[in-house]
Amino acid sequence: MLLSTLCVILAAARQAWTQSSTVDAYIASQSPLAKADLLANIGPSGSKSMGAKSGIVVASPSNVNPDYLYTWTRDSAVVFQVIVDQFSLGIDTSTRGEIDNYVASQVIIQQVSNPSGTITTGGLGEPKFNIDETAFTAAWGRPQRDGPALRSTALITWANFLLTEGNTSYVTNTLWPLIQNDLNYVAQNWNQSTFDLWEEVDSSSFFTTALQHRSLRQGVQLANALDQTSVVSSWTTQAGNLLCFLQSYWNTAGYITANTGGGRSGKDANTVLASIHTFDAAAGCDALTFQPCSDVALSNLLTYVNSFRSIYPINSGLANNVAAATGRYPEDSYMGGNPWYLTTLAVSEQLYDSLIVWNQQKSLNVTSLSLPFFQLFDSSVTVGTYASTSATFTTLTSAIKTFADGFVEIVAEFTPSSGSLSEQYSKSDGSQLSAADLTWSYAATLTSFDARAGVVPASWGASGLTSSCSISTGGGGGGGSSGTVSVTFNVDATTVFGENIYICGSVDALQNWDPDTALILSAANYPIWSITVDLPANTEVQYKYIRKFGSSLTWESDPNDVINTPSGGSFIENDTWR
Ligand code: NOJ
Ligand code: NOJ
Repeated sequence: MLLSTLCVILAAARQAWTQSSTVDAYIASQSPLAKADLLANIGPSGSKSMGAKSGIVVASPSNVNPDYLYTWTRDSAVVFQVIVDQFSLGIDTSTRGEIDNYVASQVIIQQVSNPSGTITTGGLGEPKFNIDETAFTAAWGRPQRDGPALRSTALITWANFLLTEGNTSYVTNTLWPLIQNDLNYVAQNWNQSTFDLWEEVDSSSFFTTALQHRSLRQGVQLANALDQTSVVSSWTTQAGNLLCFLQSYWNTAGYITANTGGGRSGKDANTVLASIHTFDAAAGCDALTFQPCSDVALSNLLTYVNSFRSIYPINSGLANNVAAATGRYPEDSYMGGNPWYLTTLAVSEQLYDSLIVWNQQKSLNVTSLSLPFFQLFDSSVTVGTYASTSATFTTLTSAIKTFADGFVEIVAEFTPSSGSLSEQYSKSDGSQLSAADLTWSYAATLTSFDARAGVVPASWGASGLTSSCSISTGGGGGGGSSGTVSVTFNVDATTVFGENIYICGSVDALQNWDPDTALILSAANYPIWSITVDLPANTEVQYKYIRKFGSSLTWESDPNDVINTPSGGSFIENDTWR
């Protein structure tokens, strides 16, 4: 009784504060604190870097319950992406020394043999190291294949800036070898299973696939700029395969399933983080790359946010069009399963990124898939394109800005006056939990604040990409579009390293027997290769698997495989390569 009354009062208060002035004030005070706290966790001289070597980012100075006194490749790259973006955009040019130290530290870290392997046998997938740059050898969820993608992306952003300064020799001699190591690893291993960014599920993971795709596209551009063209064809081919595979995470219930394994709902901040970390304003609201303002990403965002409304007491009493505290995924039980600062901020950032693009393109498009999202803010809105001169555009964008600010207000409400941010805040009362001073929490505040201010990070080439693979978004929200069956093809096939399995067949969804555009299967459960495709219901479908290795292509032996699809629902087909 008392608690529910308190929640209603809190909810009402939070609604009343939905004024950007609250956020303006928070940003003014929190920005410098977050920047200082972020730098404090970087060795050798950061005040909380606990003796870390030069350029090494500690995930958190907390060394007990939980012990985060390690350096993760992912966290470090996310942190340096902010530092490099802010440097190259002229927002903060005081950090050149830190960036140089980071580069030097990664030259060492890449070469450290570890339980995932040596530099040439898979060691680049190792998730974390001791802060003295030695290997961490205890049991852990390894490998985590997002690390090399995120690191190379941060380094490429830095390389591109240095090239504008004419510093080609440092880029070629120091940065390029590091980038090439990471991207060769990505190109060769992306279709092997990986632990997700939360270090729990061993399968394929949307965040990892999305960031791997981005990294190879940027890598190709840099390779061309540096005349290092020998890698271009293989990286381009694998980027195409990644973009195709990325589509397979779409779930016809209207959201992105975060992992191919794990047995959860699949609603996960993984997907929101992927969207903001692959934001490219030049690509507009492109759905193929799940841009923040794409209908797929907005529908996904709504599903993700709503999944926390009834499970966190601090969200109780809040209307669906009011911001809520969000965490990693609704089934999370780590440290009790609470909201995280970095995931709540990610929601605000996706919305701010969207506003940047709508304002830039001077229009906003509502599709049947994104309609439920937009109806939160104007129940009378219908499918269509709204020019920035229209009243609907003004209504929607201003309400979405208020909604976005609401997520920052929640973070503000649960930030102590010192500005310190831990990893989690309590689902019951908002108090800080888990690792104190999480470096990634500080990075997440800075990127959200920058996006709110309209800062546009450099383009990475998401614009104008095409793929022979695409997803069906018709209808949305429904659980399978009418007349189709979701068919999962599993084939047991032993392959040699670098070889991949594809499928094509007699219907549009299987590329009408065209081997060049055949769909690549995931090897996350090797030697079982899998793909899920929507096929027409009640139809005889013929198909075959194909092996591709470099330029060689091998069809399965005759005859064609055949299935008769049922009238709806889903269907699993288990095969063995012939
Ligand atoms: C530690 C990991 O860092 C965290 O992400 C995970 O949830 C827990 N282990 C439990 O698996
Ligand atoms: C646990 C998180 O799940 C993981 O993503 C992160 O890399 C580590 N903590 C270190 O911050």
